[in-house]
Amino acid sequence: MTSGVHKFYINGEWKNSESGHTIAIKSPYLHQVIGEVQAVTKAEVDEAIQYAHEAQAKWADVSLQERGSYLYKWADELVHMQDEIAEVIMKEVGKAYNDAKKEVVRTADFIRYTIEEAEHTQGESMRGDSFPGGSKSKIAIVERVPLGVVLAISPFNYPVNLSAAKIAPALMAGNAVVFKPATQGALSGTKMIEALSKAGLPKGLVNLVTGKGSDIGDYIVEHKGINMISFTGGTETGNHLAKTATKVPLVLELGGKDPGIVREDADLDEAVKQIISGAFSYSGQRCTAIKRVLVHEKVADELVSMLKEEIDKLAVGSPEDNSTVVPLIDTKSADFVQGLITDAIEKGATLITGNKREENLIYPTLLDHVTGDMQVAWEEPFGPVLPIIRVTSDEEAVSITNESEYGLQASIFTKDINKAFAIANKIEVGSVQINGRTERGPDHFPFIGVKGSGMGVQGIKKSIESMTREKITVLNLAE
Ligand code: NAP
Ligand code: G3P
Repeated sequence: MTSGVHKFYINGEWKNSESGHTIAIKSPYLHQVIGEVQAVTKAEVDEAIQYAHEAQAKWADVSLQERGSYLYKWADELVHMQDEIAEVIMKEVGKAYNDAKKEVVRTADFIRYTIEEAEHTQGESMRGDSFPGGSKSKIAIVERVPLGVVLAISPFNYPVNLSAAKIAPALMAGNAVVFKPATQGALSGTKMIEALSKAGLPKGLVNLVTGKGSDIGDYIVEHKGINMISFTGGTETGNHLAKTATKVPLVLELGGKDPGIVREDADLDEAVKQIISGAFSYSGQRCTAIKRVLVHEKVADELVSMLKEEIDKLAVGSPEDNSTVVPLIDTKSADFVQGLITDAIEKGATLITGNKREENLIYPTLLDHVTGDMQVAWEEPFGPVLPIIRVTSDEEAVSITNESEYGLQASIFTKDINKAFAIANKIEVGSVQINGRTERGPDHFPFIGVKGSGMGVQGIKKSIESMTREKITVLNLAE
C-alpha cells in the first residue's frame, strides 16, 4: 500500500471524505507522489468524536484481560505486516528500511508491554485514622479511571511508534481515541490502523482523521468532546496547541537540543561512538538526537579529529540502501539546516567536514569553534549538522546547557561518576545519559521534556497514568 487514494477510518469503517479533497503525499527521496489521504471535514471530526464517546462508554466496562486480547492481536498484526509497513515508512519519511522495520517491531513490543503494565496497575486503599481525628471506620479506595476520548497527535519521524505509544496506553486505560497523524506520516499511520482494524476492536473506539494540522488542528484541539490531548511534535506547534486547548489534561513531547558533554577524562572512543550514533542516525531527525557537543578544550582537538574520521565513514544516500544519513523530510527542512551551516561558517565556525547538499540530502556536517552568536548553537536542526562548542570547565558546560530554551536530554561522557552526578544534578533536562547517547528507549523508562521540550511525562506506565484520573470511593463502616 503506498500508491492510490486512502480512506480515513471512522466508527469501524474506511471512508472517503465528504470534502472531496485529498492530500498528496510525496516521498522525500523518490520525489514522487506515493499516495493520497483524505482531507476530512470538521463535520467528520465531530462524527469521529461522537462515535468515540459512544464506544468509550462501553469500553470502560470491558475487562483489562479483554482489552488486552484485542491489543495483542494488534501487535501480532503489526509483526505480520512489518515488511509492508516498513516499506511505507521508508518511502514516506525516508527512514532506512531496517530502521523502519525496527520501528514496527519496537511498536509491537511497546503494545505488549503496555497490556502487561495496565494489567498490573493497581489502586490503593487508605485508612481514615492515619490522619489526626480520623476514624478507622473510614476507608478510602483509590482507583484510576479513564478520561474519555484521547486526542493523539503524532510527528512524522516515528509515524507508527510514536502514534501507537499514545493509542495503546489510551485504550488499555479504558479510553477511546481520535488519532491525527502527521500529514507526512499519514500513510504509515493508516497502515498501522489497518493492522488495528484487523484486531477486531469494537467500532468507534479508534478513529483516524487525516488532514493538515494547519486546517483541522485547532478545531480538533479546541473541541469540547476531547477529554485529553497527547501531542508529540515541534515546540512551536506544541506551544500554539497549549494556548488553544481548552481545560483538558495535556501531555506535550516537543523539540530538543540535547548536548553531549565531553569531560577531559572521557573515554573518547566510546564518546565518539555514542555521539556519531546519537547525532546522525536517521539524519539527526530524532527529538533526542545529540544536537551539540560541549567538549573540554583539553581534548577538543582529539575529539574533533576522531569524529571527522567516523563521520567520513557514514553511509550517506538512499534509505533503500539502509544509509544512516538520508534525505531530510522536505525541502523546507533541508533549507533550514543549510541555513544554519551557512550562518555558522559566515560567523567564523570551522568547517571540519560536510556542507554539501543534493536536493533534500544534507551531507553530515561537523562545525568546530561554534560560538553563542551562531544560530546552530541554539536552534534544533533536525538534520545532520553537529556543532562543537569548546568549554573550559564543567561549570561552563552546565551554564551553556541550561541557557538553551530546550530541556529534553543530555549525555555526559566521563570516567568520574561523582563528576557525572554533580553535572547531572545541575542541568535542567528531563533525562541524563551517563556515557550513553541521548535516546527515548527503552520505552518503559519515563520520558520527559522540560522547558521548551515539553510538559508531562511519557513512558508506558506514565502514559497510562496520564490518560486516567483517580476515583475515590470512601467506605463508612458501622462503628
Ligand atoms: P510538527 O510540525 O510540530 O507536527 C507535529 C504534529 O502536529 C503533526 O501531526 C501536525 O500535523 C500537527 N499539527 C500541526 N499544526 C497543528 C495545530 N495547529 N493543531 C494541532 N496539531 C497540529 O512536528 P513534526 O515536523 O511532525 O516533527 C518534528 C518535531 O517534533 C521536532 O521538533 C522534534 O523534536 C519533535 N519531536 C519530539 C519528540 C519527543 O518525544 N519529544 C518526538 C518526535 C518528534 P501536520 O503534519 O498535518 O502539520
Ligand atoms: O524523536 C523521536 C524520539 O522519541 C526519539 O526516540 O528512541 O530514537 O530516542 P529514540
